[in-house]
Amino acid sequence: MTAPSSLHRVAVGDTHLAVHTAGAGLPVLLLHGFPLDHAMWAAQEPLAEHVRLVVPDQRGFGASTGPGPTSIEQLAADAAALLGALHCGPAVVCGLSMGGYVAQHLAVHHPDRVAALVLVDTRLEADTPEARAVRADLAAKTARLGQAIVADAMVPRLLATSPPARAAAGRPAVEAALRDAILRQPVATIQAALGALASRPDMTAAMRGVRVPALLVVGAEDAITPPACMETALAVVPHARLLVVPHAGHMTPLEASDVFNRALLDFLAAARLHPA
Ligand code: MLT
Repeated sequence: MTAPSSLHRVAVGDTHLAVHTAGAGLPVLLLHGFPLDHAMWAAQEPLAEHVRLVVPDQRGFGASTGPGPTSIEQLAADAAALLGALHCGPAVVCGLSMGGYVAQHLAVHHPDRVAALVLVDTRLEADTPEARAVRADLAAKTARLGQAIVADAMVPRLLATSPPARAAAGRPAVEAALRDAILRQPVATIQAALGALASRPDMTAAMRGVRVPALLVVGAEDAITPPACMETALAVVPHARLLVVPHAGHMTPLEASDVFNRALLDFLAAARLHPA
């Protein structure tokens, strides 16, 4: 990280979370997507010049101990306990995809922990029956064939596919890093998380009651949670603004890091949480 980074191991319930922190001041919690870990936020390290980054591996992922998650509610309870253990006041909670589901639960069920919300490449709705069946099939295949089947299924869908996006410098390295990240997650965590994702509730009604400022960000080429998901969220979440980022897919903070980091700082300034 640009500012010096520390690695903590924090006991939370029946698990020990590995969490990287850097910088000082306003806490900004970055919650990774499935089936990744804290490393997906590497391009946000420069934000530690402005805020206190808190970047955990969620339970069972990365260097955090298992067991994997049984529900999104459990991941939100972990995150709330983590912020408490690190003596953070209300935080800016930023989550991508699965991390965005967790961020929504934090805002609804642990509102005292949340100063503002940044939902990235995610959705408010629960899985459809078809999506649940796909997850059950992937969980069964993962048990037989290991993490490579998940990497094969997911990596091609994570990134933007238009010609300019494919031609971007560093694209092969990004694809390789995502594949490596998936391959290093335990099979049991992937299976548990697929169950947690499939059983998550629809948050639409609950999110109407969120009162903190919210920034919604989505890649224009997101194939997993397309811009329409975030347009729906914009109509639901009371104090929200939406940014659609060109030439980005499901991994906007990684694919368009300069745009994302600037948008986050501008949002914090507009919400009077941080100077521009
Ligand atoms: C993620 O990126 O976290 C997953 O794609 C979430 C999901 O499959 O719903």
